[in-house]
Amino acid sequence: MYGVVSFGAAALLPANALHAVCTDNAQMSMLTSTSALPCEPVSHPRSVERLVTGKATSDGAGVKLTRVLTQDLQRRLDPYLMLDAFGSVNPDDYIAGFPDHPHRGFETITYMIAGRMRHRDSAGHEGLLENGGVQWMTAGRGVIHSEIPQQEEGVMEGFQLWLNLPGRDKMSAPWYRDFKAADLPRFVTDTGVSVTVIAGHSHGVAGAVTREASAPLYLDLHLPAGSRLMQPLAAGLNAFLYVYRGEITVAGSTVPSQRMAILGNDAQSDGVIVEAAGEARALLIAGRPLQEPIEQYGPFVMNTRDEIHQALNDFRDGRLA
Ligand code: CO
Repeated sequence: MYGVVSFGAAALLPANALHAVCTDNAQMSMLTSTSALPCEPVSHPRSVERLVTGKATSDGAGVKLTRVLTQDLQRRLDPYLMLDAFGSVNPDDYIAGFPDHPHRGFETITYMIAGRMRHRDSAGHEGLLENGGVQWMTAGRGVIHSEIPQQEEGVMEGFQLWLNLPGRDKMSAPWYRDFKAADLPRFVTDTGVSVTVIAGHSHGVAGAVTREASAPLYLDLHLPAGSRLMQPLAAGLNAFLYVYRGEITVAGSTVPSQRMAILGNDAQSDGVIVEAAGEARALLIAGRPLQEPIEQYGPFVMNTRDEIHQALNDFRDGRLA
């Protein structure tokens, strides 16, 4: 259903050949030709407002991870609630996984760079998440799920992002999809940047998932040495980058590995320009702020304390899922 869009042949052409044909009115049906890659110029790029070093912590049954987007940044990075990065070659750091636990009121997006993890939930969904795959779960009114590693050794590396739901959707029915790496929309720019479009739209390519209220954009960028990527972003969106290999430069600021760069919301800005002197990989994430009250108690994120109490009561009484 979600075809891979490859610009592999286009990437081999000299850059000026592509510039000569790039267009802003690309059609999905034209994506196999070089003329389909829109220029998407950015004339007022966003700057880096601040760099954030994550906090080392553990969750689930003792999985070691780095909480990159912490609770104190939920307002600034609305509609996002959390970003965890996990990565280890030591099975003791991940083997216990995340046994059965509840969620209500938001969505979880798990992106596995390397490793294998099995998801099961109370809505009857089950999936094996592995190398390069994405699992998108809308908890809505409630699920109880588990995420258990399916390996006893080797590298386990990936990310879990929490995306808030608007109040009117917090009690919606749970939803789940998983996408193997080969099923995720992907393209390569004229400078050789490989872009996986997990959510939203980039250069005319629609992501695996789109959402109206929060308008999430979630891109995984693989930047070869000496490359750069322009990505338009409406000024009202909150946006950040997380670098997980090498380092990048954004409007003159260096963003080192394992750092999140919160991008400024200058009203004049129309996008971001990401440059890499050496090979680098980064997540670019943006979304439209919901501008609603955020009440979080562990795995429940609602608008009011009463709704949190209701979630706790429902969970205790077996009515959550
Ligand atoms: Co969970």
